[in-house]
Amino acid sequence: MEIIVLPDAAEVGRVAALKIAQVVERRPEAVLGLATGSSPTDIYASLARRVAAGELDFSRASGFALDEYVGIPLEHPESYASVIRRDVVEPLGMDPARVRVPDGRAADVEAAAEEYDAAIAAAGGIDVQILGIGANGHIGFNEPTSSFASRTRIKTLAPQTRADNARFFDDPDQVPTHCLTQGLGTILDAHEVVLVAQGERKAAAVAGMVEGPLSAMCPGSALQLHRHATIVVDEAAASRLTLVDYYRHTYENKPAWQRFA
Ligand code: GLP
Repeated sequence: MEIIVLPDAAEVGRVAALKIAQVVERRPEAVLGLATGSSPTDIYASLARRVAAGELDFSRASGFALDEYVGIPLEHPESYASVIRRDVVEPLGMDPARVRVPDGRAADVEAAAEEYDAAIAAAGGIDVQILGIGANGHIGFNEPTSSFASRTRIKTLAPQTRADNARFFDDPDQVPTHCLTQGLGTILDAHEVVLVAQGERKAAAVAGMVEGPLSAMCPGSALQLHRHATIVVDEAAASRLTLVDYYRHTYENKPAWQRFA
């Protein structure tokens, strides 16, 4: 794991976006894993500015969303299909035909989940998976006790996650109870992972993910098994890390050839 601690949320978005841009510059047909939620919005905004300036081109890239609610209408503004279209596909100029979101409306959600993993594999796997982390340590919607070997599947949302996401809905009861999410095993198959976290509310989850034991109780800790995971956090989200001075020292003294920002 590489841990990058930056002064504030804006820097987190800027630096994580540079990492994603590097992948797409190297490989214009890159396959991106796309997270929703508040955490990656600065990444998408930063990339969109560079697209608008003609510095980056996502038209040949493809994407797979990390997760989707089950039972939410496609056209609902908070379905992840809508969010991905609004926050990612349109501002980055991606081809909508190359961007998929798990089908939370399928009559057979289990078959839809299996087919989703097969489609990721058929695309050659995800080059770079963008991630946030929930306050309870979830990544995607892999709630505590999710298997490290799990694949895309249906999950029940934890009460805390429903409460956290209630801000996106008019009424907390409207937050769906179930979701389809890439599994921890699916996420671990990505060639590279970039996770961002901002704010004190994420500090305990970040500490558990980076320095805690490998444990299904903190699904983010599965990333300790990944060969190429970059964790980009602001000071507040880093506030419970015990080795924070070491991470700063490492980042500041990276050899030039390893630098991307
Ligand atoms: C959400 C999403 C995750 C996200 C996490 C944190 O509900 N399913 O992909 O990373 O929970 O959310 P946020 O970034 O809004 O804090």
